[in-house]
Amino acid sequence: MCGIVGYIGKRQAYPILIGGLHRLEYRGYDSAGVALLSETDKLNVYKAKGKVSELENVAQEKDCTGTIGIAHTRWATHGEPSARNAHPHVSESGNLTLVHNGIIENYVVLRDQLKSRGYHFQSDTDTEVLVQLIEYVQQSLGLNLEQAVQAALKRVIGAYAIVVLDRRFPNRLVAARKSSPMVVGIGEDQSEYFVASDASPIAEYTTQMVYLKDEEIVVCERGRDLHVFNLSNEDVPVEVKNVELDLTMLDKGGFPHFMLKEIFDQPAVLEDCMRGRLLPEHRRIVLSAVTDHRERLTQARRFIIVSCGTSWHAGLIGKQLIEHFCKIPVEVEYASEFRYREPVIMPDDVVMAISQSGETADTLAAIELAREAGAFVFGVVNAVGSSIARNTDTGTYIHVGPEIGVASTKAFTGQVCVLTMLALALGEARGTVDPGEYHAVIEELQHIPEKIGRILEQNDRIEVLSKIFTYAHNFLYLGRGWNYPVALEGALKLKEISYIHAEGYPAAEMKHGPIALIDQEMPVVFIATHHQQYEKIISNMQEVRSRNGRIIAIITEGDQVVPGMVSEYIEVPETLACLAPLLSVIPLQLLAYHVAVQKGLNVDQPRNLAKSVTVE
Ligand code: G6P
Repeated sequence: MCGIVGYIGKRQAYPILIGGLHRLEYRGYDSAGVALLSETDKLNVYKAKGKVSELENVAQEKDCTGTIGIAHTRWATHGEPSARNAHPHVSESGNLTLVHNGIIENYVVLRDQLKSRGYHFQSDTDTEVLVQLIEYVQQSLGLNLEQAVQAALKRVIGAYAIVVLDRRFPNRLVAARKSSPMVVGIGEDQSEYFVASDASPIAEYTTQMVYLKDEEIVVCERGRDLHVFNLSNEDVPVEVKNVELDLTMLDKGGFPHFMLKEIFDQPAVLEDCMRGRLLPEHRRIVLSAVTDHRERLTQARRFIIVSCGTSWHAGLIGKQLIEHFCKIPVEVEYASEFRYREPVIMPDDVVMAISQSGETADTLAAIELAREAGAFVFGVVNAVGSSIARNTDTGTYIHVGPEIGVASTKAFTGQVCVLTMLALALGEARGTVDPGEYHAVIEELQHIPEKIGRILEQNDRIEVLSKIFTYAHNFLYLGRGWNYPVALEGALKLKEISYIHAEGYPAAEMKHGPIALIDQEMPVVFIATHHQQYEKIISNMQEVRSRNGRIIAIITEGDQVVPGMVSEYIEVPETLACLAPLLSVIPLQLLAYHVAVQKGLNVDQPRNLAKSVTVE
């Protein structure tokens, strides 16, 4: 949540900062701001409510010169979205300015103390407390900037990633983190540094990245090596990683929205996801996590999957896959519930975190809890080098490239693909998977990208279909077995971006409540592919038909029954039951996308949502 970018070097900072904010806008977009230290050492701060483009309008024709600056795009936690509450915040004296991601939990106490010492507050944010506190300790203890940051952060309870600029130290930016990500990019020689809340805004300038760890502070000074130290005042060795992001993934590539591009990315990125892991010539799946931790994983008494949102839906499919192929019991938990309800975690449990961003605060806290209880922690993550990836014992990246659209699409299919390969590799290691089925699934997995491509060819048809349904205020999504989590995911996609209320349900449960809602106004999406319980779902469809419900069915190509029953249907290619979600979710992604576009909504940045939820 919220995005940070900072620059110090020889170039003009403003274009780098604004470009970076555009890259980060997926993290939060209700207000934005920038602070620049001009050549005459004047601190210019511009802020705007709304998107980064609004900030550009505000800054137009103002003094935007300077080779050092910080910028922020916000997702409001404390205080409404407004220019007043936007970051950067400035200290009482006007010397310090700061941007912050996270939440300062003890801000009320700190603010009252600072007020009693004569500090005035302009905003409703917790962040403003930080900048005033740093100034207060700097002045009262006579500290330099980084020492003041360290002293102030010792008094803070909560989560933060911050960058601070002091007008009196024009060669220096100081950044710090706790429970919120922060990365420093090293530019040319030691003459320029980039700081950001993730690598995407700086990847076009450098591949040399330093990820800060919790309670670390970094000093980026022109002409000097990075200096990293921690709250306990120990110097920390600087660990430079070579991080190469595929920059084409950060552009829309000719599509009108990132979401549509990412839906269309799926055939190619699933190939990437399987490359080097699914070995067709050996008819085997090899995952290094399973090879390296074979003993620990094969002996697992239980898997507990912790995740949020779309990743939780992937977890529900993971449960079925692991139980089916590995015969190990699996529980799937919302990370936010798991972390607070004193869960029973055993040392022989494997706790698996599934997360696209690798930064979701609840998921991160859940694995910390699991670690303390001695469980083995496994990550299924997309963002390379993210906090969750770094805090697991082992894991498998999904490698689908950066996902920018707030509604997750390719990350979901990437997660399901990795979970399928994991279940197969582990099932083979445990001897619980039938060899015939093992080889059949491996064979079929290779055809999945091409089959997704065939579904994508129906995009125009789905667009036409979506026009019929933009009127609706409620949608019901029904599926059974492997397709039940797909029903949940289809409903989530629609509500996230079209603001239409949608519920996903196991089809048979419909009789226990949702059936009361069904009338001619209510579209009901059935995921009725030709697999287990097909006949039963047909019966559920009849029940909806006889109550005049409006059905959209996702069916297998060649289905002879459903087209005779309903007027709206979308066909997906035949596949194995356990791989059905990888195909049946695709038309639901497209349906949600087109309904939202028809309604004229901002698909990539839906209201109130953020891509990376780094607050609990
Ligand atoms: C947010 C995003 C969702 C995502 C969820 C979990 O709500 O908008 O798309 O599924 O967080 O995020 P994660 O990065 O942990 O998968």
